[in-house]
Order: sequence, then structure tokens, then C-alpha cells
Amino acid sequence: MGYRETYSAWQQDPNAFWMEAAQAIDWVEQPSKALFDENAPLYEWFVDGKVNTCWNAVDRHVEAGNGDRVAIIYDSPVTHTKQEITYSELLDRVSLLAGALKAKGVEKGDRVLIYMPMVPQALEAMLACARLGAIHSVVFGGFAANELAVRVDDAQPKAIIAASCGIEPGRVVHYKPLLDGALEIAEHQPAFCLLFQREQEVAALTEGRDFEWYEAQVGVDPAPCEPVEGNHPAYILYTSGTTGQPKGVVRPTAGHLVALNWTMKAIYDMEPGDVFWAASDVGWVVGHSYICYGPLIHGNTTIVFEGKPVGTPDAGTFWRVISEHNVKSFFTAPTAFRAVKREDPKGEFVKKYDLSCLKNVYLAGERADPDTIEWAQTQLGVPVIDHWWQTETGWAIAANPMGIEALPVKVGSPSVPMPGYDVQILDEGGHEVEPGTLGAIAVKLPLAPGTLPTLWHAEERFKKSYLNTFPGYYETGDAGYKDEDGYLYIMARTDDVINVAGHRLSTGAMEEVLASHPDVAECAVIGVADTLKGQMPLGLLCLNAGTNRPLEEICSESVKLVREKIGPVAAFKLCTVVDRLPKTRSGKILRGTMVNIADGTAWKMPATIDDPIILDEITEALQNLGYAKN
Ligand code: COA
Ligand code: AMP
Repeated sequence: MGYRETYSAWQQDPNAFWMEAAQAIDWVEQPSKALFDENAPLYEWFVDGKVNTCWNAVDRHVEAGNGDRVAIIYDSPVTHTKQEITYSELLDRVSLLAGALKAKGVEKGDRVLIYMPMVPQALEAMLACARLGAIHSVVFGGFAANELAVRVDDAQPKAIIAASCGIEPGRVVHYKPLLDGALEIAEHQPAFCLLFQREQEVAALTEGRDFEWYEAQVGVDPAPCEPVEGNHPAYILYTSGTTGQPKGVVRPTAGHLVALNWTMKAIYDMEPGDVFWAASDVGWVVGHSYICYGPLIHGNTTIVFEGKPVGTPDAGTFWRVISEHNVKSFFTAPTAFRAVKREDPKGEFVKKYDLSCLKNVYLAGERADPDTIEWAQTQLGVPVIDHWWQTETGWAIAANPMGIEALPVKVGSPSVPMPGYDVQILDEGGHEVEPGTLGAIAVKLPLAPGTLPTLWHAEERFKKSYLNTFPGYYETGDAGYKDEDGYLYIMARTDDVINVAGHRLSTGAMEEVLASHPDVAECAVIGVADTLKGQMPLGLLCLNAGTNRPLEEICSESVKLVREKIGPVAAFKLCTVVDRLPKTRSGKILRGTMVNIADGTAWKMPATIDDPIILDEITEALQNLGYAKN
């Protein structure tokens, strides 16, 4: 069956389609049906099945006689370490770790926060939680203590699992002080913390609260897998929304298992035993789905890479890892390729390695610019597949399904909707528009299995954020269009979310931090185009009347404040002071117009603008920062 037949088989009988996909999963109790629509517009999948994620990702491969197969390859150029962990070893490590958590009281339904760098122990921590039916919430290492605290208070974890440190090129990230700082700010306190001590830095433990990773495992019984209901949350992953309060995306267990397993062949063309590499971080959804769960559920070998595309040690690292570990499908963010391309435009490093193992390359996380795709295609000589998805969905909404049928690649498009997603382009009134017309991208409900059923303890926010604008649809927050062949084009966000180096960030959250500076009366943060990172945040500050301190000082304090409160990942470095911000007559800041001015793209004077002169002042301020050149 080709793509069209597969998609139409799903359209005709979604239940049968997903029940068939569900056969590839080991169930403790089979579900009676796929879709549960009794509470529409809230939908759930495989609710009455009983299942365990860790069993499907680890145990069953050992039971099937594949225990000697490598589950995880750890390749860390920043610590000069390489390690292989077989499925049998992974089973032992995860069941003992789960035993340690259980002995300290972690049970099904408890939340466990994980704050770890790219080491295999991060995956083991996730799997140990899944084994017990505990709900993990992984926090990216580039977030500051304050962001960690917000997540602690929202998820209310019984335990926090952390490593002593992370390693960024040129500096050690001290996780333990960040964790301690977060727990000083947070109202909720975990019952205990489990610390994985790395050689590079041994952290001082807090007596009575903190336990060492290996010591906690001494003398405990390995824990068995705890069956959970199909709609039991597998994890919560916080992502940026419009405000400073991140959204806790809930991932349902059974839909997650069925959908990810299906994608490994259908989209990534993987057979069990093949090596899959997603060069992302466990703190992001790509890391959850395609460093940890997807490859392991499907019986593949996954790579945990602790390094950067460039500088660890050079722009050939990606090619070395692919060649050395026999990677068949490789997944990264366009930014990473832009970084490599900048250092090695002619692909001198590519020529040094035998890349004959590589069949397909996948890009996601931000818009893939045609230049980057074409460069990668030329250098690597394999299809470079853009695909589009979100933390909320957990897997691709649109892709080129290489394991079903390699469709013609149209550069600039992430190709076509996957089964499970009825994608439509809507106008402001919620009506579908003609091909070629820009509109809001929405997905007709229900969403596919594995996608978010709600936000953690925030059902009203879930409805308001995603369901209310277009009744009967999920609002993606992206704008774009479809062409005559049904290919999608993703053009921009419709909200205050920006994408910096493939990292999803909220300008609203940065504005909240800037507004807390004592000299700042009002501010706006916009995402301006950047040749490396796609977008960069830029802050425009209006100061309180009578402030007469040097403006550079206030700007550099503001930069520092965002780094302290949100974290280095915000990459907030551009900041300037202006007299006034351009607004509509009703007081709405014209961020979109400022973005167009900064990027030098065509723009029209908004009819509702209060005072057009302000735009001249803004243009001048942006020019002084090196923007608004046209
Ligand atoms: N822990 C602590 N700090 C981190 C971090 C982590 N896990 N990840 C990034 N940071 C820090 C960086 O060190 C940097 O700090 P600095 O301001 O002191 O230099 C800051 O956060 C910004 O990081 P980033 O925007 O990633 O820039 P960079 O210059 O370090 O690297 C790239 C640029 C292109 C190499 C890098 O962004 C990259 O590899 N991007 C791909 C992203 C990706 O895989 N996304 C996953 C979604 S699919
Ligand atoms: P995240 O939740 O971090 O995965 O970010 C999701 C957002 O990133 C989407 O809503 C898009 O705005 C953007 N995005 C992800 N993949 C793509 C893509 N292939 N093309 C364009 N934008 C993308």
C-alpha cells in the first residue's frame, strides 16, 4: 500500500487502522476499541487496555531473544567516552533503579522530575519511572533554577532525579546548585532526590534529602513492570506558551506506544535492529519520542550523543558518529546543519567518512530553509526529509512516509498529513480556504493516538489554548497553506512563541522577566531572523520616567536577568531602549510589524495604529542593533 491508500484506509476506518497498529504492542489486557469519544471534544485512546511502556521498550526484546542487541550507544565527545548497553543490561539497570525508587516510596501515578544531561542514565531514569507507572517530567538542562521551580510546583513530584553536572563546551553546568536553588524557590518539596554523580563533578549531597544513584540501589529488589490503564499519563513535558507559565503537555501511555512504534517503520523506515540517531536532547519532545521511547519500543539501537554539531571537536562530528555507529536514519534540527554548513560549506569533513550506512535524514523543530536542505542533500547524497510536529502531538503531523512510500520531496514543505491527522487551513471564521491561500493550520478532532488529551491539571487552559478558537478542531498555533497536491507549508506561529536554534521559547515569558526590572515600565520581545539560529529574541524596553542611569547598564542587567530567570537557552542577548512602543488604538503592541521592520520584509502600515511616527523611532533603534537594513 502506498501513502494515498494508507491515508484513505485510516480515513475510512480509524478504529480498525489503529487497532491493527496496536497489535505490534504487548498488552497485559487488550483494549476493546481504539477511540473513546464519550467526552468529546476531549478524546482518549485505548482507555480500557492495560499495558506497560517499559515492558514494551525493554523487557519484551530480551524475552524475544534479543537481549544481546545494543539498546543504547553513548557517544560523548565532551567527556571522551563511548559505551554500549545491550537490552539485557538495560533491563538489569532499569529494574534495579526502579527498585530503588520503589523502595523509597515511588508508586504508580507519582510524579518524578528528571533534570539530567545527555547520559544513558537519563533514559534509564525515564524508563524506571515508566516501569513503576510513575509519571516523569524531564526538564531541559539549559533552564535556570526559576524555571525548574515553576515545574516543581506544577508537577508536585515525589522525587527528583538529577545528575551532578552537565557539560557544555568550555564550561561545566552545575546542576546541583541549580536544583538546590529551585527547591529554595519552590513551595512544593519532593520527598527525596536521587543524584547521579558524574566524574567531572561530584556534588555535595543534602543529608536526609539526597541519595546517591548507586548507593540507593544496594540491596533493593529489581522492580517488575506495573500495568497501567491506556490513558494513564506516561509523562508530562512542559512547553512554552503565551505566558510565563509553561504548559504541561500530558502524554497518554497506550496511544504513545502504538503511534511511536508505527512511525518507526512508516516514517523513518527502520527495521528492528537498525541504528537510529536523533541528535537532540532528552529535555525536548524529540528526545522523548526519538532518543528514548520510539527506537526502544521498536527494538532499534538509539544513540545518546553528548556534544554539539560543531566544536566537539569539529564540524565532522555528526559524520563520524553516523559512520562509526552505522546509523541508518538521522534526525536533527535545521540549526544544527546551518552551524555545520557555516564551518564546512564545501563538506570537506563529509568526505572523510564512509556514510554508506545512511539512508535518510530528517529535520524538524523549526522551519527548514531550502538552502540548508539543498546543502545537506548535496553533501550527503540521501533524501533530506523535513517533517512538522509539536510537543503537543509527540510525533509528526506531516511528513514524507519513507517506510510506506517515498513521495517526491518539495523543498520548503514538510510534505503531507500522516494518518491520524485531518489537517485543514482555516480562515478567521473557521472555514477551509482554497489551496495556495494562507490561513491558520488546524487539525479536525480527534487528534491521533499519542497526542495530548489535556494539559496537566489545567483542562480549561487546554480548551482555551487549543479547542475554543475553531470548534471541532485543534488549533496548532502555526499558520501556513496547502498546495494543489496536498503538501503543507508551515510559515509562522500565530502566537508569541518563537523558535531559537530549534528551541521553543515564549516571548511573553521573557517580557514578564524584563518587566520585573525596576527601571522598566513597559517592554516587548520579538523574534528577529537569524542566519544561524533561525530566530533570536530582541527586547525593546521603555523606562520609567525619571530613570537617568546609563542605558547600556540597564540593557546588560536585563540580559543577565533573562539568563538568570529563564536560562542560557533563551539566548537573550539583543536589547535596546526606546521611548515608546508602537500600538493599536486599543493598546495592543504591534509586534508583528516590528518583526517585519527588523527583518527588512515587506509590511503595511497597520490601519489601527495609534501613532505611526513611533515606527520611525523603532526603525532607528533596530538599525542601531544591526537590523532593519532595507
Ligand atoms: N545545558 C546547559 N546549557 C545549555 C544547554 C544545556 N543542555 N544547551 C544549551 N545551553 C546553553 C549554551 O551553552 C548557550 O550558552 P551561552 O550563552 O553561554 O553560549 C546557550 O544555552 C544557548 O544555546 P544554543 O542556542 O543552543 O547555542 P549554542 O551557541 O550553544 O549552539 C547550535 C548553537 C546550533 C550548535 C545549537 O543550538 C544546536 O545544536 N542546536 C540544535 C538544537 C536541537 O537539537 N534542538 C532540538 C529540537 S529538534
Ligand atoms: P516544539 O513543540 O518545540 O516541537 O515546537 C513546535 C513548533 O516548532 C511548531 O508549532 C512549529 O512552529 C515549529 N516547527 C516544528 N517543526 C517544524 C517544521 N518542520 N517546519 C516549520 N516549523 C516547524
